[in-house]
Order: sequence, then C-alpha cells, then structure tokens
Amino acid sequence: MLGLQWGDEGKGKIVDFITPHYEVVARFQGGPNAGHTLEFNGIKHVLHTIPSGIFRDNTINIVGNGVVIDPVTLKKEIEALKKLNVDISKKLFISRKAHLIIPTHRLLDAASEAMKGKGKIGSTLRGIGPSYMDKTGRNGLRVGDVESKDFLARYKSLCDKHCELLKQMNYPCKLDELEPEFFDGIEALKALNLVDSEHLLNRYLSEGKKILAEGAQGSLLDIDFGSYPFVTSSNTVTAGACTGLGISPRHIGNVYGIFKAYCTRVGSGPFPTELNDATGEQLRKAGNEFGSTTGRPRRTGWLDLPALKYAIMINGVTDLIMMKGDVLSGFDTLMVCTHYMYRGKKIDYMPYDIVHEDATPVYEQLKGWNTDLTGIQQEKDFPAALSDYIAYIEEHTGVPVSVISVGPDRVQTIERKKMSMAYLS
Ligand code: IMP
Repeated sequence: MLGLQWGDEGKGKIVDFITPHYEVVARFQGGPNAGHTLEFNGIKHVLHTIPSGIFRDNTINIVGNGVVIDPVTLKKEIEALKKLNVDISKKLFISRKAHLIIPTHRLLDAASEAMKGKGKIGSTLRGIGPSYMDKTGRNGLRVGDVESKDFLARYKSLCDKHCELLKQMNYPCKLDELEPEFFDGIEALKALNLVDSEHLLNRYLSEGKKILAEGAQGSLLDIDFGSYPFVTSSNTVTAGACTGLGISPRHIGNVYGIFKAYCTRVGSGPFPTELNDATGEQLRKAGNEFGSTTGRPRRTGWLDLPALKYAIMINGVTDLIMMKGDVLSGFDTLMVCTHYMYRGKKIDYMPYDIVHEDATPVYEQLKGWNTDLTGIQQEKDFPAALSDYIAYIEEHTGVPVSVISVGPDRVQTIERKKMSMAYLS
C-alpha cells in the first residue's frame, strides 16, 4: 500500500481501515519524516515510525530493515500509545537491521539545508537523508548494534566523524541537550522486541499469514523516480517493500495505490499543477492541508494525471484508493491535468526533467458538485458529478478506483468495488 503523489495521501487511515484483513502490517522505508494520521472514536493519532496497524488488537506490526529509526521519536510514540492503553508488548517488532538516526544526523540535515540556501530540499529535518547516507556509505549504526557491548564506542566514533563534518560546514555540533534524550531513547529501544525481521516475515509468509506493506512518503518523492533532487532518500515504490522487508518480488500480491482527489506537496521542488491563488487557498483550508509532522502549510493543486499514471506504472498498482473526495465539494468546475506542454510538445507522460524545465499543465474541465459528501455511506448516494470524476480517472488510468474516502474517520470510507484483498503471500 503506497502513496502515489508527494506524500500525505492518507495512507495511515487506509492501512487502519484494511488492517482487519491482514495479520501483519510492516513499514519498509522512511522514518519519522512520515506522519500517518488515524482517526476513530473521535480521537486523532499521528504515527511516525510505528505501523498503522497498532490500534487493531490482533495485528502484528513490524518496523522493517529499510526504515531509519530515531529512538527519541519512537519513545515518544510508544509513550503516547501507552497513555491510550495500547499494549505494544506482543504486537510491535523492530528489525535489528533498521538503521539508527543519531542526534548528529539531525544537525547534518539542518546544516546541509542551510548550505543549499534557496536550493534547499525543504527536508523535514528529521535526519533522514544523513542516516541513509551513512547506510549507503557503510558507516551507519543499526538497531542490532544497541545490543552489543561496544555500542557506545561505535556511537562515539560516528558522532566524532559527524562533528568534524559539521565543523567544515560551519555548523555547531551542539549535543548537550540532544544526547540525554537520545540515550533515553536507546534504553527504551532495548526494551522492545528487536528481531531478525526478514526471518520473521518469511516465516509468516510460509504460515500463510497475510502481510500488508505500508509505504511512507509518496512515489513522486522516490529517490530514483521522484523529482530528483527534491525527493526523500529511500525507495518509496513497491520494489522498496522487497528490499525494505527482505521479501522476494514473487510474494507481492495486489498493490493499493492511494491518491488524493487533488494534489499537495510539502517542501520544495516542481509541482506542475500548483495553484498559487485563491483556489489553492480554498483547497488548503477545506483539506486542512498542513503537515502532520512539521505543521508546514502544504502546497496545493489540481489532480495531475500524467504524474498519477507514472506512479501507477512504476508501482504496478492494481487498485486505486481516492482520498479527500469531500474536499472538492463546492467547486463549480474541477480542472484535471491530462497532458503537459514540454519543450513545445504536448505530452501525456512524466518527462525526465521537470526540475530545470517547465512542464506546463494542459487541463480538461469537469463539472463539480456541491453536495456535502462527509455523511455518505454508499456509492448510490454519490452526486452524479462525483461518479463522473471517478469514471474519468478510471478511464485515463485503466485501474479501478476501489475505495473512496469522504472524511478522516474510519467510518467515512466507501468500498465501491470489492478489493481482492490479495496480499504478500
Ligand atoms: P526528508 O525526507 O525529510 O529529507 O524530506 C525530503 C522531501 O520529502 C521534503 O520535500 C519533504 O517535505 C518531503 N517529505 C518527507 N517525508 C514526507 C512525508 O511523509 N509526507 C510528505 N512529504 C514528505
């Protein structure tokens, strides 16, 4: 289950919604840059590291090897769950091979962004990029290392290296406040179920258990396929589930692709259909488009079909899930981008470079609807214009829109077509 745009599509809500059909939910990439929001019984929860199946009684939740973990954030998340009487002891497992975010990773993130000036990525500053850099640079610390006797020495050695780097970047390596909470976080991490998750997951598969791989961020932020360099540092696409969990591609079943009925983006980078006007503001207000991790206002724009089709192609999406249909209520007309004008030509696909060159959207105009959708429980009650909007998307993408979300609560979710509920098996 993945986001098909620039993140914030509503993955947390949908994972929580479909979790009763799965025994296991596993996060495979990203880290506390994610903010997965779930709402039920009038309470709102935001998860950053822990999979969104944690609120279901019989679901096992695994943080896979592809994730980067900040022990400080994880500890806070666990404390928040404890306050809600969620017992994690038997249902949360952390991969020993997941990499750690240490305090200097966060400082390096900030220093790197400061150096980039106007060209900054707009990172969440959670240390994600520097931690993945250490992973691929073969310097990183992993969760399993906290169990070793010389963890402190290894930490110190990496930390010293970082401080040297920070000095060169003219950025203070100030750790007096950061280190105590980090080591508290490490103690809390040690008390969790640290596992060889690739073995555990493959055992579950051989036992016939259904596994839901929960993506974070979105396909257009993928390190390979996103609008590089304005991307995150992991593979957010389907293939990332294989490397981030240790599961063979032949186990991938259905791929649920989540998209908003319009588009949003936080941080810098190209956004062809962005609306810098009153309509964009209307979307931001109606959709409460403010980051769940950073609180930053999200950039807003119309639905972008070339971008959506690109994400569907890379991920092999079998079912589409459309979020926030309710936010489009009240617009007389809706614009949908079907093509770009690019290098003087009209194209219907995502070209190589939309960072240095303009991809100007070509729109088709569709009829809007005024009906409040938030109380609708069945498809037969949809206004005709909404049904037309959905049919239009299906026609252009060739993929069924199986679920429509019309509000943040679990109950505001309409299954239009039975999803085959295939799984990693
Ligand atoms: P980083 O992953 O924190 O380094 O951020 C890189 C880019 O991805 C920035 O534009 C962020 O705003 C964006 N980003 C990272 N995580 C998320 C997310 O969970 N939702 C939306 N955007 C994200």
